[in-house]
Amino acid sequence: MNAADAMAVDCDDPSRFLVSCGAMMKKRVFVGRRIPQSAIDRLIANCDVEIWPDELPPPRDILLQKVSGCDGILSMLSDRMDGELMDVAGPQLKVISNYAVGYNNIDVAAATKRGIQVGNTPGVLSEATADIGVALVLATARRIPEGIDEVRQLKWKTWSPTAMLGLDLLGKTVGVVGMGRIGLAFARRLHFGWQMKVVYTSRSPKPDVESELSAQRLELGQLLEQSDIVSLHADYNPTTHHLINASTLQRMKPSAILINTARGGLVDQEALFDALNQGTIWGAGLDVTDPEPLPDVSPLRTLPRCVILPHIGSSTYQTRQAMADIAVDNVLAGLSGQPLPHRVS
Ligand code: DGY
Repeated sequence: MNAADAMAVDCDDPSRFLVSCGAMMKKRVFVGRRIPQSAIDRLIANCDVEIWPDELPPPRDILLQKVSGCDGILSMLSDRMDGELMDVAGPQLKVISNYAVGYNNIDVAAATKRGIQVGNTPGVLSEATADIGVALVLATARRIPEGIDEVRQLKWKTWSPTAMLGLDLLGKTVGVVGMGRIGLAFARRLHFGWQMKVVYTSRSPKPDVESELSAQRLELGQLLEQSDIVSLHADYNPTTHHLINASTLQRMKPSAILINTARGGLVDQEALFDALNQGTIWGAGLDVTDPEPLPDVSPLRTLPRCVILPHIGSSTYQTRQAMADIAVDNVLAGLSGQPLPHRVS
C-alpha cells in the first residue's frame, strides 16, 4: 500500500477515531474532525482525546458540551472559537490549535485575555493552495467546466471556430492582493510559467519578492486597474471584509478574472454577481465563499464564468498530513506550557 492509500484508509475508518486513552491525570483534548491518524496517535500517547467523528461540524450546542473541561482544542476553520466557548471550556483551557493557516474563526484577543495560546499551520499549505489558484485561473480563462459539462451532457456536436472562446494568459499582469507565502507561491507560478508581470499589495514592501519576480508594489486601486488576473491572499478580518465590492470591482478591467483562495468574506458576493452579470469583469474563480457551503439559492452558481470549488486549497494527502503534524505539535506544546511552535501573533 502506498502512502496515499494508507492515509485514505486511516481517514475512512471511523472506528479509528473513537479513541480515548482514559488515564486519570491525562489532559483532555477535543479534536473537531477526523485528521490523519499518525498525528492523532501522538495525541493519544499523551492525552485523553475525543474526536468529532462526523463529516459535518458539530452543532454549536454540542461543540460547547464537547469542549467543556478540555485543556486543549484542535479546532477546524468551520468552528467558531469565541469568548463564550472559552468560558464554557473552563479556566484549564491552555491551547487552541487551528487546523488551518487562517484563524478568522478564533477570537484571538479573547484567547489572549484568558491566557490561552492560539496556533495555526503556516507554510505547509502554500504550494497546494497556490496550485488550486492556478487551476482556477485556467478553469476560468479557458472555460473548462463549461467544456466538461458539454461533453458530459452529450452537447458536443463538432469542433467549432467560435466555440468556447477564452482568454490567453501569456505575458499578462497578475495582481496579488496580500503578498504572503501563498501569494508568493501563486505569483511564482504565473511569473515563471506565463511570464506575467507581477504587481502586489502588502502592508510593507517585500524587497526579496521584488527582486525575485521584478514585482511592483501598488495601492489596491492601481493594482485593480492594471491587472488581468487579481488574486486574493489577504488575511480576513474586519478591515478586509468585502475588500472586493461594487466600487473596487468597477476599477477592474472588463477582461479581468478575480481569483479567491483565501476567505469568502473578502468578497461582496452580491456585487460580484452583478459585476459578472453586467460584464464589469470577465470571470471569477473561487475556492472559498461566504458562507460555506454556498447556499443552494446563490445566483453565483448559475453563472458559467464563475468557477466555484468547495474550499479544497489545502486538500492533498501530503499537505493535510503536514497540517496535522503542526497542529498536534502546537497542542502538545500548549499543554506543557511551552510557547507554540506556530503561534498566532
Ligand atoms: C487555511 O488553512 O486557512 C485554508 O483555508 C484551509 O484549507
